[in-house]
Amino acid sequence: MAADLTGTAKQLAEKMQVPSSNPTEAPDPIKILYGTRNPPPFKENNIFPIEWRVETPKMMEIYDGARDPGWAPNRLPWDTLDANAFTLDQRYALAYWWSLLSVFDSSGPAVFARAMIHTYEAHEEDPVRKCFFSVTRDEVNHEEICQRAIQALTPNGPLGYEPETPLGKLARNNVLWYYHNGGRYWEGYKKAVGKYPLAILFTSFLMGEVASATLFHGMYQRTTIPVFKEAFKNVGKDEARHMGICLAILERLLPKLTDEMREQITKQLRAGYVFLSGILYEPPDQFWELPETWRPAHRLLEDVARDAGLGILTLEERRDNWRAAVLKMKGLLEPYGVAFPAIPEIGIDGQTVAFDPADIIPVF
Ligand SMILES: [Fe+2]
Ligand SMILES: [Fe+2]
Repeated sequence: MAADLTGTAKQLAEKMQVPSSNPTEAPDPIKILYGTRNPPPFKENNIFPIEWRVETPKMMEIYDGARDPGWAPNRLPWDTLDANAFTLDQRYALAYWWSLLSVFDSSGPAVFARAMIHTYEAHEEDPVRKCFFSVTRDEVNHEEICQRAIQALTPNGPLGYEPETPLGKLARNNVLWYYHNGGRYWEGYKKAVGKYPLAILFTSFLMGEVASATLFHGMYQRTTIPVFKEAFKNVGKDEARHMGICLAILERLLPKLTDEMREQITKQLRAGYVFLSGILYEPPDQFWELPETWRPAHRLLEDVARDAGLGILTLEERRDNWRAAVLKMKGLLEPYGVAFPAIPEIGIDGQTVAFDPADIIPVF
């Protein structure tokens, strides 16, 4: 084997010709250039070649502003959260709400990381890729808020502890069902994210960001638990920045929509409503697979969490907030000829659209 290799090397060396008559002279680049050829074409969906195109300078400014979010989950006053200040049921109920939130905010890191890879494969401009990176980083922080809140109230939670009361057992069963639906969402998202043009992805993402900014703003105002107030304030600020990112890119993309894209956006808006209502309002039947015990248990748990000071708005208030947020989306999209879907649940009329649970791509 070694002899073979030496033989091959010898043959190669004999074949090699120095493009200069004098072997001590440096080779002439022009002579080398005559012999160059290009590699085969780059495959589609490949991240190479790398380039740093900037088409939307405003996004670069947003990214610069996001480099340091100005807060970190480990710097919040967690020592002020005394689990013993709550009854057992209050602890279960508070941890329950954070566990429901974790279906949205803890899917954030994986969801945005996947979207970020997509922006590389689709050769999006540099600030778009960078902004996705910053959103991924933010979502890791939001996930950590869920993690810290749950583990302070129910060590080893959300699932690794044994609830001691009937309400605690109901909470655990409801959380399991939410994770079941979260898993279905992830399966759909994974397949859908590479399928859609950026304009559609961003409209769906915007719906999620509008929803989360609305949710955290409301809870920031209402909660009486200091560390949660800080958390809602900071997470809400991040979400507002995510909204700004989506808006900046949509300003460029929306004027170029095709009719087919418009139709897909209408469908995605309905899908967004259905998925995000799982935390903003109440989970509709259309996507959510839940047993009959889920809703009555949920209402009980929400009442206990509200009494404990979490800052959950009443159903009525949430409906109004969600409606206002959705109307914002409507005002933004209608000038570009996007028909809004009917959302009778919150009193919004529009086009009736088909719903395919496999196509849900909104994020939080
Ligand atoms: Fe988030
Ligand atoms: Fe977000």
